Parts: sequence; structure tokens; C-alpha cells
Amino acid sequence: MKVLIIGAAGGVGVRAAARLIARGHQATGLVRRREQVALLSSQGIGTVVGDVVKDSIETLAGHIRGHDALLFTAGAGGRDGSEATIAVDGDGPGKVAQAMRLAGVSRFYLVSVFPEAWRERRMDDDFEQYMVEKKKAETQIVLTELDWVVLRPSALTDEPGVGRVDLGLAKVHEEIRRDDVAGTLVALMERSEIRRCILEVTGGDTPIAEAVDDLRTR
Ligand SMILES: NC(=O)c1ccc[n+]([C@@H]2O[C@H](COP(=O)([O-])OP(=O)(O)OC[C@H]3O[C@@H](n4cnc5c(N)ncnc54)[C@H](OP(=O)(O)O)[C@@H]3O)[C@@H](O)[C@H]2O)c1
Repeated sequence: MKVLIIGAAGGVGVRAAARLIARGHQATGLVRRREQVALLSSQGIGTVVGDVVKDSIETLAGHIRGHDALLFTAGAGGRDGSEATIAVDGDGPGKVAQAMRLAGVSRFYLVSVFPEAWRERRMDDDFEQYMVEKKKAETQIVLTELDWVVLRPSALTDEPGVGRVDLGLAKVHEEIRRDDVAGTLVALMERSEIRRCILEVTGGDTPIAEAVDDLRTR
């Protein structure tokens, strides 16, 4: 399977790319900066330089063409202000969906977020806007004819993965390791019959392969 990853230099993206390669697939990362090319290439990850915001839909389609699936795990991360959150987290997935249509690629995996994440913490306006934009992106993707899967991970941590998760249609927001989100994404991609569903994933006790198999039997 050939997968294009948008956000490949990010925490989840690089882990998903490495896992795809370890399992015999091909991963190409769309990255914004030249120095990321060398970093990813040294791990056997193909690269293309691009930008979801700056590139046209036609240019993005050119990058996407020829792949079997697309993973969107980019995010502005609150680093460049509210306009970036709107452009990347909110409008990015819909723009990529249009590019996928042009490119003739239908399998779209979108990393989103739990809607109720950290509600108890009274987060600031930027966080609230981030949540609104993530939801906006979901609402656009689910209306497309693509074979989409939306995965909402709980709060991400960087500890090594444990290979176990709690995955399903609705879960309680806790924490999950980026490694385990990456593992879940790859396991979902390897089961293309799982499509057009929104899933929530948090840390748990079920081996990832089993958690994904459980989805199929439901
Ligand atoms: N943090 C959490 O607890 C949490 C919880 C749930 C869901 N999420 C979501 O999970 C996803 C992955 O999170 P993460 O922590 O792995 O993210 P991350 O490390 O911040 O990586 C995000 C990546 O997106 C890339 N990006 C930003 N703007 C872009 C653009 N215009 N065009 C192309 N790429 C662009 C960044 O590129 P550069 O390297 O060039 O900056 C970066 O590599 C994100 O969508 C995030 O919103 C996060």
C-alpha cells in the first residue's frame, strides 16, 4: 500500500510513516521544510515538499496521485495564531479531499480530536477555536463520497507505545501515546473494509489488532 502522509514530520505522522514501512508499505510524507526531507529520507520515508495552505488544489492533487490512501495528521498546533488553525485544521482536510477527488484517490484517514477534550479544564479561546475548526473539518469530510475514516485520539503523549488501546464509536477522553495512535491508524489502513466511520481511541488494554478486528465484527 502506498500512503501519502500530510503532517509526516509531526509526532503522529513520523511514527505512522515508520510503522507503515516496517510493515512493508510505502510512505511518502508531504513536508514544508527542506531539512525535514533529509530527516525522513534517512528513515526510508519518501518525501515531497508542499504546503496544504499555500499549494493549490491542483498541485496537491499532483502530490496525491498514484497513492492508495492519504493520512491527514497535520495541525497548526496553536503555533501560528488563529488564522493558521482555520487554514490547516479547519479548511485543510476539505481542501485535500477536493485534491483527492482530482487525483482519483478515495481512501482518506483524518486525525481529529475528541469533541469533549479537556472541557473540565476551561481552556482558553484558542483551544475552543481549535475544537471548532476540527469539528468543521469532520463535517466537511463526512459529506464527501470518499472512503473516509475519522480517528479522534485523546490527549497525545510521547512515551513509547504499548500496543494496546481502547477503540470504538464513543470513548471517554483520557490519554494515548502517539505510537499507539500511529499503530491504530496503520491497522485501520490495512483493513480497507472499515470506512465511512468516526472512531474514538484512547489508551486501553486491548491489543491494537484485536481492537480493530472487534470493529469489523460489529
Ligand atoms: N496534541 C494533542 O494532545 C492532540 C490530541 C488529539 C488530536 N490531536 C491532533 O492530532 C494530529 C497530530 O498531532 P501531533 O502532535 O502529531 O502534531 P504535530 O507534531 O504538531 O505535527 C503536525 C504537523 O503538521 C504539519 N503542518 C502544519 N501546517 C501545515 C501545512 N500548512 N501544510 C503541511 N503540513 C503542515 C507540521 O509541519 P511542520 O513540521 O513544518 O511544522 C507538523 O509536522 C493533529 O491534527 C492534532 O491536532 C492532537
